[in-house]
Amino acid sequence: MTRTAIVTGGASGIGAAIGRRLAADGAAVAVFDINDAAAGAAAAAIRADGGTALGVGVDVADRSAVEAGVADVRSALGGPAILVNCAGVTVSGPFLELEPETWNRVLATNLTSAFHCCQVVLPDMVAAGWGRIVNISSSSTHSGVPGMAAYVSSKSGMNGLTKVLALEFGRYGITVNTVPPGFIETPMMREALDNGVFDLDRQVAGTPVGRIGQPEDIAATCAFLVGEEAGYITGQTVGVNGGRNT
Ligand code: NAI
Repeated sequence: MTRTAIVTGGASGIGAAIGRRLAADGAAVAVFDINDAAAGAAAAAIRADGGTALGVGVDVADRSAVEAGVADVRSALGGPAILVNCAGVTVSGPFLELEPETWNRVLATNLTSAFHCCQVVLPDMVAAGWGRIVNISSSSTHSGVPGMAAYVSSKSGMNGLTKVLALEFGRYGITVNTVPPGFIETPMMREALDNGVFDLDRQVAGTPVGRIGQPEDIAATCAFLVGEEAGYITGQTVGVNGGRNT
């Protein structure tokens, strides 16, 4: 049975790896990304590998854009059965210099986006009596990170949203889990390294398995959590961090 999956932030880094992996496992994948051209390119790459995919330009912080994007998915691929909320932005700087507008933008992109996407797709899952939601948060929610108040707060909110949705929707065959990645090699992480937010050698030295994570490490975990066999796992936080934050 082909299931339809929506992956937000699916044009780059972790989201792109998740889209590739779910498509390889047989899902029809809708790549939602604010970067319309990159969403199209990611979907084209999946199709070139023999998968089924649709690229949709969506700002997931915008409710009406999410509703329109999900409507496109329903007509092109069928009702969504899997949702991976992966879109995110990172902002860093001293707390006392954090502008309210920046705080609001980070919360809207990283957390309210998940509220919109979950609320729009859950009726499809309830009607089908089956669904899987994975929220990509961050290992920074375990430790805190100086200078990242908006980011860590937004990702911590995702952990709470996961718990509540797991309790409310378990009876419909829907599971909701959180994957907080550790230090993963993506364009977002490269930017943080270039800006001096993190030091690569120190990060690797502090990681028990002795390497930086790859987007495929997160994709493999998502693939398990959205599968049939993971139906008894819900409301959980599954850290993928090479042994940090344990
Ligand atoms: P990335 O920057 O490579 O990819 C993020 C994608 O989200 C981009 O394609 C971007 O266009 C998209 N996006 C941003 N705002 C959007 C919006 N409003 N609507 C739709 N799409 C939007 O980042 P990366 O590293 O792949 O991160 C993916 C997720 O994993 C993020 O939520 C990030 O916070 C989280 N994460 C990443 C870690 C890492 O080490 N790379 C560690 C912990 C969490």
